[in-house]
Amino acid sequence: MSTAGTTPVSYNDEFVDPTSAQKYEDSVYAKTSHSSLLWDIEKTQLDELLARYVPAGGHHLDFACGTGRVAGHVVSEQRPVTAVDISSAMVAIGRSVRPGPNYLTGDILDDEFFATLKDLGPFDSLSAFRFILNADRDIVQPILGRLAQLLTPQGIAIINNHGDTRSMKAAPHYLAKFSGKKNDASETAVGNYLTPAQALGLFDNAGFEVVDTRGTGVVSGRIMDTIGYDKLRDLEARAATTPLAKLGTNTMYALRPVRGLNH
Ligand SMILES: C[S@@+](CC[C@H](N)C(=O)[O-])C[C@H]1O[C@@H](n2cnc3c(N)ncnc32)[C@H](O)[C@@H]1O
Repeated sequence: MSTAGTTPVSYNDEFVDPTSAQKYEDSVYAKTSHSSLLWDIEKTQLDELLARYVPAGGHHLDFACGTGRVAGHVVSEQRPVTAVDISSAMVAIGRSVRPGPNYLTGDILDDEFFATLKDLGPFDSLSAFRFILNADRDIVQPILGRLAQLLTPQGIAIINNHGDTRSMKAAPHYLAKFSGKKNDASETAVGNYLTPAQALGLFDNAGFEVVDTRGTGVVSGRIMDTIGYDKLRDLEARAATTPLAKLGTNTMYALRPVRGLNH
Protein backbone atom coordinates (compact mmCIF):
# COMPACT_ATOMS: atom_id res chain seq x y z
CA MET A 1 0.00 0.00 0.00
CA SER A 2 1.12 3.58 -0.57
CA THR A 3 2.13 5.52 2.48
CA ALA A 4 1.41 9.16 3.26
CA GLY A 5 4.06 11.45 1.87
CA THR A 6 4.96 9.30 -1.12
CA THR A 7 3.61 9.59 -4.63
CA PRO A 8 0.37 7.61 -4.86
CA VAL A 9 0.76 4.38 -6.81
CA SER A 10 -1.96 3.69 -9.33
CA TYR A 11 -3.97 0.67 -8.26
CA ASN A 12 -3.15 -0.86 -11.66
CA ASP A 13 0.49 -0.99 -10.54
CA GLU A 14 0.10 -1.67 -6.84
CA PHE A 15 0.47 -5.45 -7.15
CA VAL A 16 2.82 -5.51 -10.13
CA ASP A 17 6.07 -6.14 -8.32
CA PRO A 18 6.59 -9.71 -7.06
CA THR A 19 7.28 -8.59 -3.47
CA SER A 20 3.88 -6.83 -3.15
CA ALA A 21 2.19 -9.80 -4.81
CA GLN A 22 3.77 -12.24 -2.34
CA LYS A 23 2.90 -9.93 0.58
CA TYR A 24 -0.76 -9.93 -0.45
CA GLU A 25 -0.74 -13.72 -0.57
CA ASP A 26 1.15 -14.18 2.72
CA SER A 27 -0.24 -11.48 4.99
CA VAL A 28 -3.71 -10.39 3.81
CA TYR A 29 -4.83 -13.99 3.49
CA ALA A 30 -2.68 -15.55 6.20
CA LYS A 31 -4.57 -18.49 7.74
CA THR A 32 -5.79 -16.65 10.82
CA SER A 33 -6.10 -13.10 9.45
CA HIS A 34 -9.36 -11.20 9.80
CA SER A 35 -9.64 -11.10 5.98
CA SER A 36 -9.42 -14.91 5.90
CA LEU A 37 -12.12 -15.14 8.57
CA LEU A 38 -14.51 -13.03 6.51
CA TRP A 39 -13.55 -14.88 3.32
CA ASP A 40 -14.48 -18.14 5.03
CA ILE A 41 -18.03 -16.80 5.40
CA GLU A 42 -18.06 -15.17 1.97
CA LYS A 43 -17.18 -18.51 0.34
CA THR A 44 -20.48 -19.95 1.56
CA GLN A 45 -22.37 -16.86 0.42
CA LEU A 46 -20.73 -16.98 -3.01
CA ASP A 47 -21.54 -20.69 -3.37
CA GLU A 48 -25.19 -19.98 -2.45
CA LEU A 49 -25.51 -17.19 -5.01
CA LEU A 50 -23.89 -19.25 -7.78
CA ALA A 51 -26.07 -22.26 -6.97
CA ARG A 52 -29.21 -20.10 -6.94
CA TYR A 53 -28.64 -18.06 -10.09
CA VAL A 54 -26.20 -19.87 -12.36
CA PRO A 55 -26.86 -23.23 -14.03
CA ALA A 56 -24.26 -25.93 -13.41
CA GLY A 57 -21.73 -26.16 -16.21
CA GLY A 58 -21.52 -22.40 -16.66
CA HIS A 59 -18.25 -20.73 -17.61
CA HIS A 60 -17.09 -18.27 -14.91
CA LEU A 61 -14.81 -15.24 -15.28
CA ASP A 62 -12.91 -14.03 -12.21
CA PHE A 63 -11.83 -10.46 -12.89
CA ALA A 64 -8.88 -8.91 -10.98
CA CYS A 65 -8.22 -12.45 -9.80
CA GLY A 66 -5.02 -11.60 -7.93
CA THR A 67 -3.46 -14.77 -6.56
CA GLY A 68 -6.56 -16.80 -7.37
CA ARG A 69 -8.39 -16.77 -4.01
CA VAL A 70 -11.85 -16.58 -5.63
CA ALA A 71 -11.01 -18.33 -8.93
CA GLY A 72 -9.43 -21.27 -7.08
CA HIS A 73 -12.53 -21.64 -4.92
CA VAL A 74 -15.09 -21.43 -7.74
CA VAL A 75 -13.31 -23.67 -10.24
CA SER A 76 -14.47 -27.26 -10.59
CA GLU A 77 -14.97 -29.76 -13.37
CA GLN A 78 -18.55 -28.48 -13.63
CA ARG A 79 -17.58 -24.83 -13.50
CA PRO A 80 -14.54 -23.88 -15.62
CA VAL A 81 -12.98 -20.55 -14.66
CA THR A 82 -11.05 -17.98 -16.66
CA ALA A 83 -9.11 -15.75 -14.27
CA VAL A 84 -7.78 -12.38 -15.38
CA ASP A 85 -5.48 -9.82 -13.76
CA ILE A 86 -3.33 -6.93 -14.92
CA SER A 87 -0.41 -8.11 -12.76
CA SER A 88 1.65 -11.01 -14.05
CA ALA A 89 3.25 -11.35 -10.57
CA MET A 90 -0.17 -12.01 -8.96
CA VAL A 91 -1.15 -14.41 -11.75
CA ALA A 92 2.16 -16.30 -11.39
CA ILE A 93 1.36 -17.00 -7.71
CA GLY A 94 -2.20 -18.03 -8.62
CA ARG A 95 -0.94 -20.47 -11.25
CA SER A 96 1.45 -22.13 -8.83
CA VAL A 97 -0.65 -22.08 -5.61
CA ARG A 98 -4.16 -22.54 -7.01
CA PRO A 99 -3.96 -24.38 -10.31
CA GLY A 100 -7.21 -25.14 -12.12
CA PRO A 101 -8.42 -21.83 -13.55
CA ASN A 102 -7.23 -20.64 -16.94
CA TYR A 103 -5.15 -17.64 -15.84
CA LEU A 104 -4.58 -14.72 -18.22
CA THR A 105 -2.67 -11.47 -17.74
CA GLY A 106 -4.03 -8.40 -19.47
CA ASP A 107 -5.83 -5.09 -19.31
CA ILE A 108 -9.55 -5.35 -19.99
CA LEU A 109 -9.51 -1.72 -21.18
CA ASP A 110 -7.12 -2.71 -23.95
CA ASP A 111 -9.33 -3.39 -27.01
CA GLU A 112 -7.30 -6.37 -28.18
CA PHE A 113 -7.38 -8.08 -24.79
CA PHE A 114 -11.09 -7.30 -24.42
CA ALA A 115 -11.67 -8.95 -27.83
CA THR A 116 -9.81 -12.04 -26.56
CA LEU A 117 -12.13 -12.18 -23.53
CA LYS A 118 -15.18 -11.74 -25.77
CA ASP A 119 -14.01 -14.69 -27.86
CA LEU A 120 -13.69 -16.81 -24.70
CA GLY A 121 -17.18 -15.74 -23.54
CA PRO A 122 -19.93 -14.94 -23.14
CA PHE A 123 -19.66 -15.99 -19.51
CA ASP A 124 -22.50 -17.37 -17.39
CA SER A 125 -21.13 -15.75 -14.26
CA LEU A 126 -18.32 -13.51 -13.16
CA SER A 127 -16.78 -12.22 -9.95
CA ALA A 128 -14.73 -9.17 -8.98
CA PHE A 129 -13.66 -9.15 -5.33
CA ARG A 130 -11.71 -6.44 -3.51
CA PHE A 131 -11.62 -4.35 -6.66
CA ILE A 132 -14.27 -1.59 -6.92
CA LEU A 133 -13.38 -0.02 -3.58
CA ASN A 134 -9.68 0.49 -4.23
CA ALA A 135 -9.28 0.69 -7.99
CA ASP A 136 -8.69 4.12 -9.51
CA ARG A 137 -12.10 5.76 -9.76
CA ASP A 138 -11.66 6.73 -13.42
CA ILE A 139 -11.24 3.13 -14.54
CA VAL A 140 -13.83 1.38 -12.35
CA GLN A 141 -16.80 2.63 -14.37
CA PRO A 142 -15.49 1.67 -17.85
CA ILE A 143 -14.29 -1.69 -16.48
CA LEU A 144 -17.73 -2.50 -15.03
CA GLY A 145 -19.28 -1.54 -18.38
CA ARG A 146 -17.02 -3.98 -20.19
CA LEU A 147 -17.69 -6.73 -17.64
CA ALA A 148 -21.45 -6.34 -18.23
CA GLN A 149 -20.80 -6.92 -21.94
CA LEU A 150 -18.98 -10.19 -21.25
CA LEU A 151 -21.99 -11.89 -19.62
CA THR A 152 -24.79 -13.84 -21.26
CA PRO A 153 -28.16 -11.98 -20.96
CA GLN A 154 -29.09 -14.26 -18.02
CA GLY A 155 -25.56 -14.14 -16.57
CA ILE A 156 -24.78 -13.04 -13.03
CA ALA A 157 -21.96 -10.82 -11.79
CA ILE A 158 -20.96 -11.17 -8.14
CA ILE A 159 -19.05 -8.09 -7.05
CA ASN A 160 -18.10 -7.04 -3.54
CA ASN A 161 -17.60 -3.75 -1.72
CA HIS A 162 -15.29 -4.46 1.21
CA GLY A 163 -15.61 -0.95 2.68
CA ASP A 164 -19.36 -0.53 3.04
CA THR A 165 -20.20 2.54 5.10
CA ARG A 166 -23.40 1.06 6.56
CA SER A 167 -21.06 -0.68 8.97
CA MET A 168 -18.72 0.24 11.81
CA LYS A 169 -16.78 2.02 9.04
CA ALA A 170 -19.46 4.74 9.04
CA ALA A 171 -17.79 6.79 11.78
CA PRO A 172 -14.30 7.01 10.21
CA HIS A 173 -15.87 7.53 6.79
CA TYR A 174 -17.95 10.54 7.84
CA LEU A 175 -15.07 11.89 9.95
CA ALA A 176 -12.80 11.77 6.89
CA LYS A 177 -15.53 13.24 4.73
CA PHE A 178 -16.33 16.20 6.93
CA SER A 179 -12.75 16.98 7.91
CA GLY A 180 -11.69 16.73 4.26
CA LYS A 181 -8.76 14.60 5.38
CA LYS A 182 -7.17 11.76 3.49
CA ASN A 183 -6.22 8.70 5.50
CA ASP A 184 -3.54 7.63 3.11
CA ALA A 185 -1.96 8.96 -0.05
CA SER A 186 -3.62 6.26 -2.14
CA GLU A 187 -7.12 6.99 -0.91
CA THR A 188 -9.77 9.42 -2.01
CA ALA A 189 -10.82 12.33 0.20
CA VAL A 190 -13.59 10.24 1.76
CA GLY A 191 -11.23 7.57 3.01
CA ASN A 192 -11.14 3.93 2.05
CA TYR A 193 -14.89 3.43 1.99
CA LEU A 194 -17.63 3.17 -0.60
CA THR A 195 -21.20 4.09 0.28
CA PRO A 196 -24.03 1.83 -0.93
CA ALA A 197 -25.21 4.73 -3.10
CA GLN A 198 -21.78 4.99 -4.75
CA ALA A 199 -21.69 1.23 -5.39
CA LEU A 200 -25.24 1.21 -6.76
CA GLY A 201 -24.43 4.21 -8.98
CA LEU A 202 -21.44 2.39 -10.46
CA PHE A 203 -23.53 -0.73 -11.13
CA ASP A 204 -26.43 1.24 -12.60
CA ASN A 205 -24.19 3.23 -14.95
CA ALA A 206 -22.55 0.01 -16.11
CA GLY A 207 -25.91 -1.50 -17.02
CA PHE A 208 -26.40 -3.85 -14.07
CA GLU A 209 -29.41 -4.35 -11.83
CA VAL A 210 -29.12 -5.79 -8.32
CA VAL A 211 -30.88 -9.13 -7.87
CA ASP A 212 -29.54 -10.16 -4.46
CA THR A 213 -27.05 -9.22 -1.74
CA ARG A 214 -25.15 -10.84 1.13
CA GLY A 215 -23.18 -9.21 3.93
CA THR A 216 -20.57 -9.99 6.54
CA GLY A 217 -18.13 -8.19 8.83
CA VAL A 218 -20.57 -6.96 11.44
CA VAL A 219 -18.17 -7.09 14.39
CA SER A 220 -14.88 -5.22 14.59
CA GLY A 221 -11.88 -7.42 13.72
CA ARG A 222 -10.10 -5.92 16.72
CA ILE A 223 -11.99 -8.15 19.11
CA MET A 224 -10.28 -11.16 17.55
CA ASP A 225 -7.34 -10.47 19.90
CA THR A 226 -9.69 -10.90 22.85
CA ILE A 227 -12.05 -13.72 21.86
CA GLY A 228 -9.91 -15.51 19.25
CA TYR A 229 -10.43 -16.48 15.61
CA ASP A 230 -12.85 -19.38 16.09
CA LYS A 231 -15.29 -17.53 18.36
CA LEU A 232 -15.32 -14.46 16.15
CA ARG A 233 -15.86 -16.65 13.09
CA ASP A 234 -18.88 -18.28 14.76
CA LEU A 235 -20.25 -14.88 15.72
CA GLU A 236 -19.87 -13.54 12.19
CA ALA A 237 -21.32 -16.70 10.66
CA ARG A 238 -24.41 -16.36 12.86
CA ALA A 239 -24.76 -12.62 12.16
CA ALA A 240 -24.51 -13.29 8.41
CA THR A 241 -27.80 -15.19 8.50
CA THR A 242 -29.70 -12.38 10.26
CA PRO A 243 -30.79 -8.86 9.18
CA LEU A 244 -27.60 -7.63 10.92
CA ALA A 245 -25.71 -8.80 7.83
CA LYS A 246 -26.77 -5.53 6.19
CA LEU A 247 -24.47 -3.76 8.65
CA GLY A 248 -21.36 -5.64 7.54
CA THR A 249 -18.20 -4.05 6.15
CA ASN A 250 -18.33 -6.47 3.21
CA THR A 251 -21.34 -6.46 0.91
CA MET A 252 -21.61 -8.91 -1.96
CA TYR A 253 -23.94 -7.94 -4.81
CA ALA A 254 -25.44 -10.36 -7.34
CA LEU A 255 -26.07 -8.33 -10.48
CA ARG A 256 -27.70 -9.03 -13.83
CA PRO A 257 -27.02 -7.07 -17.02
CA VAL A 258 -30.06 -5.01 -17.92
CA ARG A 259 -31.47 -6.46 -21.10
CA GLY A 260 -30.96 -4.39 -24.21
CA LEU A 261 -28.43 -2.03 -22.66
CA ASN A 262 -25.29 -3.97 -23.45
CA HIS A 263 -26.58 -6.84 -25.57
C1 LIG B 1 -6.74 -6.55 -3.67
S1 LIG B 1 -6.36 -7.52 -5.06
C2 LIG B 1 -7.77 -8.60 -5.11
C3 LIG B 1 -7.47 -9.92 -5.72
C4 LIG B 1 -8.58 -10.93 -5.66
N1 LIG B 1 -9.75 -10.51 -6.41
C5 LIG B 1 -8.96 -11.20 -4.23
O1 LIG B 1 -10.06 -10.81 -3.83
O2 LIG B 1 -8.15 -11.77 -3.49
C6 LIG B 1 -6.73 -6.44 -6.42
C7 LIG B 1 -6.27 -6.98 -7.76
O3 LIG B 1 -6.74 -6.09 -8.77
C8 LIG B 1 -5.77 -6.09 -9.80
N2 LIG B 1 -5.97 -4.93 -10.65
C9 LIG B 1 -5.75 -3.63 -10.37
N3 LIG B 1 -6.06 -2.87 -11.42
C10 LIG B 1 -6.50 -3.73 -12.39
C11 LIG B 1 -6.98 -3.57 -13.70
N4 LIG B 1 -7.06 -2.37 -14.28
N5 LIG B 1 -7.36 -4.68 -14.39
C12 LIG B 1 -7.26 -5.90 -13.83
N6 LIG B 1 -6.81 -6.12 -12.59
C13 LIG B 1 -6.44 -5.05 -11.88
C14 LIG B 1 -4.45 -6.05 -9.05
O4 LIG B 1 -3.36 -6.43 -9.88
C15 LIG B 1 -4.75 -7.02 -7.91
O5 LIG B 1 -4.35 -8.33 -8.22
